[in-house]
Amino acid sequence: MLVNFKQILDMAEEGNFCIPAFNVYNIETCMGAVKAAEELKAPCILQVYPRLMKEELGYYLAPCVVAAARKASVPVCFHLDHGPSELETTRSLRWGATGIMLDGSALPFEENIALTRRVVDTCKYVDVQVEGELGHIGMVSDDSMDEFTVPEEAKIFVEKTGVQALAVLVGNAHGRYKKPPKIDIQRIADIRKATNGTSLVLHGGSGIPDEAIKEAVKVGIRKLNVSTDLCYSFLDSVQEEINKPDRFIAIDNFMKKPIEAVKEFCMTKVLLCGADGKAK
Ligand code: 13P
Repeated sequence: MLVNFKQILDMAEEGNFCIPAFNVYNIETCMGAVKAAEELKAPCILQVYPRLMKEELGYYLAPCVVAAARKASVPVCFHLDHGPSELETTRSLRWGATGIMLDGSALPFEENIALTRRVVDTCKYVDVQVEGELGHIGMVSDDSMDEFTVPEEAKIFVEKTGVQALAVLVGNAHGRYKKPPKIDIQRIADIRKATNGTSLVLHGGSGIPDEAIKEAVKVGIRKLNVSTDLCYSFLDSVQEEINKPDRFIAIDNFMKKPIEAVKEFCMTKVLLCGADGKAK
């Protein structure tokens, strides 16, 4: 069933676990993620990068995500990931998104607050809630990392914007880490406390050691974003299948294995988040 961002995060807060948020790119990755959530009776988030929400692609992909979420036997939120401006966030609402991320983390503090607040106010009209970002979470290839999220600033940001959730920079980055990252667990706990128990989001979930994720969930991470490793699970399987001499030519049959590979991968993250059996 399709639920909004608040509904799904409330489940995580009440049950003290984390919602796995899977970036999806096509029908197959969407199917794999939903199958994993259904098999383990877990709520989950299907999220989409803004470039996939443009007219060209969004016209195909967004209805597919909405249909998958509606049909699912578990709660699923359809979330825009890293929306850079009101153009993308408003367009995503039109496509049926039930959660929105406004990423103003590269802007000066006050501008990030003002833009995020505007998006929160617009989304309110359609009962959709917003994830903000404070402390710019870059790529693993970036030369230097921004300053980690400061708890006192997070408090001001949350109060002034009214976000439902906050993405934090605590040693994480997007992409495949060259060596396992060191996640600042104490900082997560401090931000959680300073923001009066706001749901916190850990981006860059691919390659963070399981133990660190478990510790992070204990102190307030309520949404774990995973994209890169999900892509690899799909593409590695495609590569394996395509080299088989007796491979399927009909694409629907060919895709069965890659869908299964995505499902298996997503199941490991559902379990890591402690979301299994938590669907309501
Ligand atoms: P990874 O690609 O590192 O898993 O990060 C995903 C993410 O945080 C999406 O916003």
